[in-house]
Amino acid sequence: MESNNGKIPSIGFGTSTGIVNPEELERAIDTAIAVGYRHIDTAFIYGTEKVIGQTLQKWFKSGKLKREEIFITTKLPVMGTHQDRVDSFIQRSLSNLQLDYVDLYLVHFPVGAKSGSNNLPLRDEQGHLFLEPKTDHAAIWKKMEAQLDAGRARSIGLSNYNISQIQTVLKSARSAPSCLQVELHAYLQQRELVHFCHQNGITVVAFSPLGAPDHNKRMKGYFAQYEERPLPDILGNAVIGRIGEKHGKSAAQVALRFLVQLGVVPIPKSMNPGRIKENFDVFDFELDGEDMERMAELEMGERARVSDFLNIFKGVEHHPDYPFGKL
Ligand code: A2P
Repeated sequence: MESNNGKIPSIGFGTSTGIVNPEELERAIDTAIAVGYRHIDTAFIYGTEKVIGQTLQKWFKSGKLKREEIFITTKLPVMGTHQDRVDSFIQRSLSNLQLDYVDLYLVHFPVGAKSGSNNLPLRDEQGHLFLEPKTDHAAIWKKMEAQLDAGRARSIGLSNYNISQIQTVLKSARSAPSCLQVELHAYLQQRELVHFCHQNGITVVAFSPLGAPDHNKRMKGYFAQYEERPLPDILGNAVIGRIGEKHGKSAAQVALRFLVQLGVVPIPKSMNPGRIKENFDVFDFELDGEDMERMAELEMGERARVSDFLNIFKGVEHHPDYPFGKL
């Protein structure tokens, strides 16, 4: 998979794990690297950068992994969605990760949130974030490009942006975004967005490629008032199960392989050694034309979106920079 400044490995290890014990996360990253993942996705806001940094240092010191052999992505948090805050947030991420550069730096979300203490966004009593009134996408992008010039990022991109917002960035860009990271899975296939990105040379990275079955638990761990919601049951889908049986593969492997064959880069999360391995083991089979058609028919559109941020930012759907469509 091409990104502007090198290649992004075609599967990544997601670390938006919610609140987990650092030793458990370190063990999961160790397993991921040992079974062959060479792409780790994190974000300032996930709180996983420090553990990733420590784990990588251990691997580098052992001589079993070189910095240039692993692709690390992190993201500008919502309280940094402002041109004056890009420099300081990427420097904090690099320090957490104990790295001189990241392979990919993304603007995490097109709407900004006010900053509270402890590097976290400010929240009201119900746990909602406070919105910044407007985002200057061109000005932020200029500061993202400055990170390429400063050598802090090898490539830069966007996350959770829609087509029109990407077009705004493209119009003013000196270096076009190399990547867009969005929620994407069998029930929310984002065909128009993927087509637009591929036509513009933008690699699409899929977060929650298994439909984020742990989403409610994870969000409740961040703030107890989180309102639970029904989640897409991709792993229990009978069509996916039957395709899996045909190939001797699990539903998760079919769901991931489908994305790989669409030219999209999935970043599944797992804390379980067997499943970490299983999710990487998708390069020894191929879905045929009929399988791909059955998978395409599973599309449900917006109603399958898990991460719409509505439960996180109060009133975000009325914000001029809210990226997602209506149901
Ligand atoms: P676990 O950590 O217990 O493996 P997504 O990447 O779509 O956000 O989904 C992550 C969730 O899916 C985690 O709760 C993870 O749980 C679970 N998961 C990851 N891989 C698999 C798999 N191969 N089979 C079943 N569940 C999985």
